[in-house]
Amino acid sequence: MTTQPTEPAAPAPITSAADIDLNDWNFWGRPDAEREHAFRLLRDLDKPAFFPEPEFGFAAATGPGYHALVRHADILEASRNPEVFCSGDGGATNIPDLPAEFAEYFGSMINMDDPRHARLRRIVSRAFTPRMIKQFESDVDAAATRIVDELLETGPGCDFVTEVAAKLPLKIICDMMGIPEKDYRFVFDRSNIVLGATDPEYVSDREDIAHALLTAGMELQQLVQDLAALRMKTPTDDLTSSLVNANIDGERLTAQELGSFFILLVVAGNETTRNAISHGMRLLTLNPDQRRLWLEDFEGRAPRAIEEIVRLAAPVNYMRRKVTRDHEMNGNLYREGEKVLLYYWAANRDERVFDDPLRFDIRRDPNPHVGFGGPGPHFCLGAHLARREITVMFRELMRRIPQIETGEPERLLSSFINGIKHMTCDF
Ligand code: HEM
Repeated sequence: MTTQPTEPAAPAPITSAADIDLNDWNFWGRPDAEREHAFRLLRDLDKPAFFPEPEFGFAAATGPGYHALVRHADILEASRNPEVFCSGDGGATNIPDLPAEFAEYFGSMINMDDPRHARLRRIVSRAFTPRMIKQFESDVDAAATRIVDELLETGPGCDFVTEVAAKLPLKIICDMMGIPEKDYRFVFDRSNIVLGATDPEYVSDREDIAHALLTAGMELQQLVQDLAALRMKTPTDDLTSSLVNANIDGERLTAQELGSFFILLVVAGNETTRNAISHGMRLLTLNPDQRRLWLEDFEGRAPRAIEEIVRLAAPVNYMRRKVTRDHEMNGNLYREGEKVLLYYWAANRDERVFDDPLRFDIRRDPNPHVGFGGPGPHFCLGAHLARREITVMFRELMRRIPQIETGEPERLLSSFINGIKHMTCDF
């Protein structure tokens, strides 16, 4: 979820940090090069820029404003200190506090603090058993093969995002939960609404954003709760069965917890991986030397190449934290009740940490990017799975269509997700 857009207008050039307003919708419509320039100016300030709480269509302003953390060191430090920089008390995925009626659907562990967060994470992590992960691995391989078969049948000129990048994560999340193939499209459309509600392609009338979000949340919750009712009667080996039937310590999720966890999985696991694959394909198109290097030794170079794709793609642009007490961090004061936004995309380009940060270098080492979040209790639960999906997708593409290229990306209008909605491909 993100700020509600205003009418687009031709943005003035950014010449100094004073020209940057992260609350201005037009800022997020700027091309990558301009954003890169703007975030560099913000990183070079003596202290993080502070922005007033923005106006939202579905939630009133709920605090004095937020500090934009754009340096790698600040994001690491804030992530390590969840007692001061908390994810609960209004949520981590939105700037204004989440209104109460949203919590039912969007109030899962990403928007909680310990001990509630720890309890949920424990139950859910246990359900990711080695056996289940192994099962996903063969599913991922088979799904990627099928996607490339279908792409070859469809032929060049099609949309890489919908025909390739979106298909793999969607199938894997649905398979994990036990959602049948006939419902994939239903899940896909609703997950686009949840993370793309501010883009007119997904919610055409801006007045309807709150209604669209709540409806999508309710429908996804209903889908998984119907499935849960079946699995309680007849358990199978899917994740839904493990989450609703008691585990070895007698722990299980309530119906509401299951619903909001499913929504979190669908949005956290789908859009992010989809965008990493799309940005990765774009980066390989723009950097033929890196493609050649990868083709020379796909397996040997894959682990670093994947980290480099996630660094530059940074599909999750930011997460929010709220300051629980006055606190000094890296020489700056943060006051109780203020918010901080952890701009991962900006930290992954911090020249204090990364040599020549805008260069796509599939051999980059070390690569301490924060694309999966900073070190702390909320570090991405699906990072291993995401790495696996991205590797397998590129293995299949590089092996069977090594010359595949993409056209200009059509970007998602969002400040939260660094998304590509559509992008043609040629081969
Ligand atoms: C390239 C792909 C991905 C990226 C860039 C990504 C990014 C992130 C980030 C930045 C966070 C940190 C949230 C915070 O600190 O507040 C996070 C958390 C999370 N991610 Fe991912 N993610 C990806 C793939 C996945 C996948 C495939 C799944 C599920 C199968 C997943 C499930 C989650 C969950 C459940 C959380 C919340 C963890 C918690 O609050 O304890 N993610 N992810």
